[in-house]
Amino acid sequence: MAGGDSAAVSAVEGRLSELSTNSGEKGLPRRGKSSSGRTLNTAQIQLVASHPEVYEPCDDSFTLVDALLSDKAQLLTLKPRLCMEIGCGSGYVITSLAIMLRQLGSGTQYLATDINKHAVETTQATLEAHGVHADVIATDIVSGLEKRLHGLVDVVVVNPPYVPTPEEEIECNGIASSWAGGLNGRQVIDRILPAVRELLSERGWLYMIALEDNDPLDICHLMNEKGYASRVLLKRCTEEESLYVLKFWQDAASGTNASHAARSPRSESSWLSQLPFRSLWHKNA
Ligand SMILES: C[S@@+](CC[C@H](N)C(=O)[O-])C[C@H]1O[C@@H](n2cnc3c(N)ncnc32)[C@H](O)[C@@H]1O
Repeated sequence: MAGGDSAAVSAVEGRLSELSTNSGEKGLPRRGKSSSGRTLNTAQIQLVASHPEVYEPCDDSFTLVDALLSDKAQLLTLKPRLCMEIGCGSGYVITSLAIMLRQLGSGTQYLATDINKHAVETTQATLEAHGVHADVIATDIVSGLEKRLHGLVDVVVVNPPYVPTPEEEIECNGIASSWAGGLNGRQVIDRILPAVRELLSERGWLYMIALEDNDPLDICHLMNEKGYASRVLLKRCTEEESLYVLKFWQDAASGTNASHAARSPRSESSWLSQLPFRSLWHKNA
């Protein structure tokens, strides 16, 4: 999509798939089409709009949607009242989520943000083309929305800019801000996490993509200290990167600062508290 003809319509496929697929894609770390040979279209999203500065869905986007699909039954049981995506890009993920949870009807609302105004426009077009609705707002993470959304969001999904880059690249406008993550790829992630903790309801879940270089175990430790349990919902290795989809939820048994912690969902347990760390990265979701 990015860099392509705006009239072009490309089909982007997400599928429930095996935990590890190989993509032969080379080039920029976060760009280009997946070559992982997807066949089963559980969520098929048409990219009806494009812009050279908007991130084209790629293996990380597909991996996040696949993880959400693998958790669909739990999401339907949760009956989230408010779902939110931070950094919505083309709208592929929030549109997939809204379609996935369509049967919940108007009881579930959707919200998406992106720092890039072209991404906001593209997401709106993608949602509209698929007959689903979300409020889409151009802002830095959730800036300006914190008070209104405090403790109200039941599901947050994030495919953040996670590629280790020079710090200056984060400040660049344009497509680089889609992937530029600064030192260890953590600079934007480390701003997103505290913001998300303020947004999540007591029963809320966060689904976030992280790269091996981001030190996902450290991310889980940090969240654990704030009262969040976590697990690897999906791991996928491409030729270029090892992607993890991490799922977080409040857990009274986790951390030292769990003053707002709710009861742990019965189906979940904290792998941080139950498993030796080395084994965590081999555990299937
Ligand atoms: C890797 S792309 C993911 C796009 C889309 N969610 C997907 O999975 O295909 C990251 C997105 O985050 C957005 N982004 C980067 N920094 C942001 C910030 N500080 N606040 C909000 N969005 C941001 C970028 O513009 C980009 O659209």
